[in-house]
Amino acid sequence: LLTLEQISGGCRDEFFRCYEELFILWFFLQPLFVWVIIIMTGKLFQKPAELVLAVSKGRIFKQVLPLLESAGISILEDPEESRKLVLATSMESLKLLIIRPSDVPTFVEYGAADLGITGKDVLLEYDSDDYYELLDLGIAKCSLMVAGMPGTAISKNRLKIATKYSRVATDYFASLGIQAELIKLYGSMELAPSVGLADFIVDLVDTGDTLKANGLVPLNTICEISSRLIVNKATMKTKNSRVKNLIQMLRDVKLTSDKNG
Ligand code: ATP
Ligand code: PRP
Repeated sequence: LLTLEQISGGCRDEFFRCYEELFILWFFLQPLFVWVIIIMTGKLFQKPAELVLAVSKGRIFKQVLPLLESAGISILEDPEESRKLVLATSMESLKLLIIRPSDVPTFVEYGAADLGITGKDVLLEYDSDDYYELLDLGIAKCSLMVAGMPGTAISKNRLKIATKYSRVATDYFASLGIQAELIKLYGSMELAPSVGLADFIVDLVDTGDTLKANGLVPLNTICEISSRLIVNKATMKTKNSRVKNLIQMLRDVKLTSDKNG
């Protein structure tokens, strides 16, 4: 028979063996715990990935500013005063690139910018769609139209068309079965018919004041235009939550402004 002392001695031995095993386990696992804690704290204090948003200067930029402000994002420098083309914002790790409207898709496609804001007219004319078009911001609205001198009708004859939108114009006239000779201009399109340079123009029309002031009338609407938010394809994978967050902020602002008319 075992004595009481033998029993309590056995229990003590068992206890020390357990303790010893736990100690060995802790000794080997301790560095692992330390690493887990270091990584978790690192993640906690890690700066979010940088987002670069390319915005068209000029008309679009003026309308993007209040949109960003309503989303709680302000520009840290006065864009009117600054000659800088990279502007910091109040949103952590979001910076703006100020570039020409027609350069926005190039910056986004090549990943020099993660996101971009430019007109649908620019995107239609850009010879690639290697980006995602994610949001219609509903700003800088206008129409892409065919215009000409009063009393002239679009006939099936070979026509001379002055425009900076060669691609869109070619596709449009081809869809009507009309052969068009494109005359590429970079501005002041409204002059072309009156000086005999072209039969018609393809250009943006908003109030119609520029057409009227130059003796032209709107004829056909090719499509409605507004500014769009586009995203680089790789960014959509690598910075998905940041991009989604920004899109949601802008979408909310747009919904509120749509509701308020
Ligand atoms: P660039 O410097 O490349 O020649 P731009 O002079 O056409 O560009 P803006 O006049 O600022 O630049 O126009 C930029 C965008 O604003 C256009 O691509 C179009 O989407 C939109 N837009 C242009 N004209 C009008 C207008 N009259 N009303 C509303 N939106 C317009
Ligand atoms: C745009 C467009 C038209 C004008 C139309 O020119 O090219 O000329 O606006 O607007 P409206 O219908 O309200 O008159 P913009 O003012 O941007 O000048 P630009 O083309 O020389 O840059």
